[in-house]
Parts: sequence; C-alpha cells; structure tokens
Amino acid sequence: MSKAFEQVCESLKHHPKTWLVTGCAGFIGSNLLEALLGMDQTVVGLDNFATGFQHNLDEVKAQVTPEQWARFRFIEGDIRHLDTCREALRGVDYVLHQAALGSVPRSINDPITSNDVNIGGFLNMMVAARDEQVKAFVFAASSSTYGDHPDLPKVEHKIGNPLSPYAITKLVDELYAKVFASTYGFKSIGLRYFNVFGKRQTPNGAYAAVIPKWTSAMIHQQTITVNGDGETSRDFCFVENVIQANILAATHMPETGFEVYNVAYHAQTTLNTLFKYIKETLAENGVHYSLAPQYADFRAGDVRHSFANIDKARTQLGYEPAYSIVQGLAKAMPWYIQFLK
Ligand SMILES: NC(=O)c1ccc[n+]([C@@H]2O[C@H](COP(=O)([O-])OP(=O)(O)OC[C@H]3O[C@@H](n4cnc5c(N)ncnc54)[C@H](O)[C@@H]3O)[C@@H](O)[C@H]2O)c1
Repeated sequence: MSKAFEQVCESLKHHPKTWLVTGCAGFIGSNLLEALLGMDQTVVGLDNFATGFQHNLDEVKAQVTPEQWARFRFIEGDIRHLDTCREALRGVDYVLHQAALGSVPRSINDPITSNDVNIGGFLNMMVAARDEQVKAFVFAASSSTYGDHPDLPKVEHKIGNPLSPYAITKLVDELYAKVFASTYGFKSIGLRYFNVFGKRQTPNGAYAAVIPKWTSAMIHQQTITVNGDGETSRDFCFVENVIQANILAATHMPETGFEVYNVAYHAQTTLNTLFKYIKETLAENGVHYSLAPQYADFRAGDVRHSFANIDKARTQLGYEPAYSIVQGLAKAMPWYIQFLK
C-alpha cells in the first residue's frame, strides 16, 4: 500500500465522510462501496440497474458488518433525472461518479442512449454537485479518450481523435469538467481507467469485458474467441488499484480546478499473454484448460495498443498500484471460480 494511501485511509477512519457512489450496483461501484463501508464511511448509492445487479449489493452486504451496512443508503434512480441527482447529493462530502454505459460496441450499436447517460447524466451530476457544494467530485473517465494517438505509453496531455461514440462521451465529460472549473470554480478530477478487472465484473452479455468473459468460458471448458491476432495489448488494472486512485483523488482536489489522471498498472499485456495468464491462474486453482483459442476479426472501434504512463498520478496523488495483472488475477480467481461456475 502506498504511504499516501495509508495516511488517507487512517485519516478517513478517524474523520469519516459521507460519500456518493453512483453506479454502486455495478462492478467498480460495488467495489468502491465495499471499500468505503469497510472504512466506516457513510455512503449513499445511486443506480438504476441498467447494467448493475442487486446481487452485487447483496455481496457487499455479506462482506461488511451490520453496523457498516447500516451506514449505506441506496437510491434506485437514474442520473438522467436532475432531481434524482440532487436528492442523492444532499449532505454529501465526496462524490465518486461511476454510473455510465460502458463498452465501445454498445455505444456503436446505440449511440443515443450512451450519449444521454454518459453526457446528459454526467452534466446533471455536475450541476447538482456544484449546487450542493460538495468537497470533491471524482469521475470515471476512460483510456478510450486517447483514441488514435500513436504515442506509447499514453500521457495525459496527448490525446488523439476518438474512435467510438463511447470515447466521445468520456472526452466530453472531461471538457465539461474543465469548463465547470473555469466557469463556476467547481473542482473535479477525472480518472482515466485502463481496462479494469476484478470480482463482480460480469462475464455475461454481448458487452462483457475480456477477462471475466474468457475466465468464465474457460471454467466451463468452452473455446474462447480472440478478436484479431491476439497481439492487441492492454494495460489491465486490478480493481483494488482503482479504489486506491479514487480515494486518493477525492482527498486531493486540484488547485488548478480540474485534472485528469491515468489509472493503470503500467504494464503492456497482449491478449495472447492474457490467455496464458488466465490459464495458469486457473490451473493454480485446480481448473485445467487445454483448448486452443479461436481467432476472429478485429473489433470495430478498438484501439490496437493501450499502455499508460502513470507518473502524474504517482507524483500528484501518491498513487502506487499495489497489484500487477498476475497478482490481481490470483486474488480474483477464487471469486470467479465460486461465482462463475
Ligand atoms: N471497467 C472498465 O474497464 C472501465 C474502463 C474505463 C472506464 N470505465 C468507467 O467506469 C465506470 C464504471 O464501470 P463498470 O465497469 O463498473 O461498469 P458497470 O456497468 O458494471 O457499472 C456501471 C453502473 O452504472 C449504472 N448506471 C448505468 N446507467 C445509469 C443511469 N442512467 N443512472 C444510474 N445508474 C446507471 C449501472 O446500472 C451499473 O451499475 C463507468 O463510468 C465506465 O465507463 C470502466
């Protein structure tokens, strides 16, 4: 654990805050919820179950004490409604805004709904948070914002053209955040997540992320499909690193008004290597898989390589990712095996 993170956690335990986690029934949101309740914080959660699940909330409940769970208030609602955002924000100190429609292919199939939620809903959240004068506003930005920029590793100030409607929505959120800082003096931080993975990420549906999708298929001894030649690479980031980045960001609102940070591990892993890692981690957990992967066409809108420079988060927030992809897979695998069987 980084020293800065240790200190912030210690301070929060002694001086608990009220947090709003939007998208709390989703993958990252439910992990944030669990971490915050585990630190005796008060948490309001907002979700409309568009892609989140009641069973994620039930799992969090099972992981925390009854006293900690009693500090959680859930609002089933939609960020596309300004009044709902206002209600959720009442009395909140820190906001971790995760609610959005993820997935590049989803946004290609239905750009209007992705736009409504990821931009319209985001703007509602910003307006309501500004009016409530919250102490900190942190939101889930995305590595997709780098688009077609060729440089590797990615540094925050060098972005290219967006390659999908989803990437546009996340870029527009950053633009709004910047303008809210200069126009209203409203401070925020955008965290550009790079391919997050961990427990409670769904393996199901057309828009599932590669790690839970492949892991589930391999547990069930099904053939997995690689989009392209398998040499496409990503900077896979374990969800515990993302929790650290969010909590550090909430307690480091920038003097400049708005900053964006890469949140990744800083390692480039190809899909072929990922397949090997999952296979090995499964074997360590007693699940042996021997089928060869099937190779298919490249997917529209996907960038070829994604690899983050994380120096900015390191120096300005004290972010020190504690889990590599292999360590994250090892930690998540018992959950995958128990819940995806
Ligand atoms: N998982 C990743 O690798 C990754 C990478 C980059 C950015 N992100 C961003 O991180 C955030 C969380 O992603 P996730 O992977 O946990 O996805 P997720 O789909 O598991 O979680 C998103 C949650 O938001 C909720 N939601 C969607 N629309 C809503 C609405 N209109 N009103 C209220 N709630 C709504 C969903 O029901 C869901 O619970 C998203 O903003 C996503 O774009 C994720």
